[in-house]
Amino acid sequence: MKFRTRAIHVGNAPDPQTGAVIPPIHLSSTFVQPGAGEWGKFDYSRSGNPTRSAVQETLASLEGGCGALAFSSGMAATHCASMLMGAGDHLIAGMDIYGGSYRLFHRVCATAGIEVSLVDLQRPESLAAAVRPETKMLWLEGIGNPRLTIPDLPALAATAHELDLLVAVDNTFATPALMRPLELGADIVMHSATKYLAGHSDCLAGVLAVKSPELLDRLYFLQNATGAVLSPFECFLLGRGLKTLDLRMREQSRTAMKIAQFLEGHAGVKSVLYPGLASHPDHARASQLLDGGFGAMITFEANCDFEATKRIVASTRLFRLAVSLGAVESLIEQPATMSHASYDAAARQQAGITDSLIRLSVGLEDVDDLIADLDAVLS
Ligand SMILES: Cc1ncc(COP(=O)(O)O)c(C=O)c1O
Repeated sequence: MKFRTRAIHVGNAPDPQTGAVIPPIHLSSTFVQPGAGEWGKFDYSRSGNPTRSAVQETLASLEGGCGALAFSSGMAATHCASMLMGAGDHLIAGMDIYGGSYRLFHRVCATAGIEVSLVDLQRPESLAAAVRPETKMLWLEGIGNPRLTIPDLPALAATAHELDLLVAVDNTFATPALMRPLELGADIVMHSATKYLAGHSDCLAGVLAVKSPELLDRLYFLQNATGAVLSPFECFLLGRGLKTLDLRMREQSRTAMKIAQFLEGHAGVKSVLYPGLASHPDHARASQLLDGGFGAMITFEANCDFEATKRIVASTRLFRLAVSLGAVESLIEQPATMSHASYDAAARQQAGITDSLIRLSVGLEDVDDLIADLDAVLS
């Protein structure tokens, strides 16, 4: 079955008891056992729940994994993956990762004795240079945040595997509709499913998908032991969002391309970063690794200072000033004060997150209305 068909049918069999086309949401926290000390398919909802199993089946199919786990947030999923490491281990992460991942690695993993190095993955030689005998994992984003860099995942994964590292990819920006990291060499895919996967800004969720059953068992153990599972109702919302993921990603990518072209020619704009533009440093790689669109995130530098940038992001009418991304409504934000505020100032500068950088999450509104909204505040 093709991607779109799997998004609708895998994990979504009609209810055998009632024939309901949409399976019921199983809210039960506990399940009757066949006998004392005997276990059925489900016993307690932290360990397993039918609604969660269903959406996990869909997610695994879309990412091309052997299994997936649904978490209460993207950060809970990232934290669970980080628990594969322990005191004395070393993690290498890309320089332009989400601010919350930066904070988790530097302020939570560090207190557990895990050392973190941020490296510029645009220079592939920097990976081997940063590796130590105790390095266990490489963490990167399929589309970097917020400069929309596209690392050479197949090459980085091959190097990392030669060095015996696990490769984990945050695939939030690309989604499996455009990129499937497990097929490109990653061992673990992580999602803030809060974003495109659920797609409607009404649900906080996280995902890990893997291709090795052994890794799935280890992550399942950690998730069950620590407890950050996704609730049944959120599982339903996530599964509902997945059914239109491919359609949304393609349409939002098309709109984003038109907006990026508009911005590139605008006097109020210094530079535009969008992987679909020939001017993007990673455009050629984006064309190779992304399939069906270049994503719906655009980053641009306004032709003005910090204060004027703050005024711009607060003045659009349709683009709402809010963190997060990936939903049907368009959002605007200033990474320096919002999504990447948890970076320290030096790391922000090194990652190219300037004061006048603006990040757009392009939604499903009419492209002409979105362009008029931006034109009004930039002119
Ligand atoms: C790229 C990326 N990864 C991870 C996260 C964290 O996900 P959550 O907010 O669902 O915990 C976010 C949230 O903005 C994100 O943008």
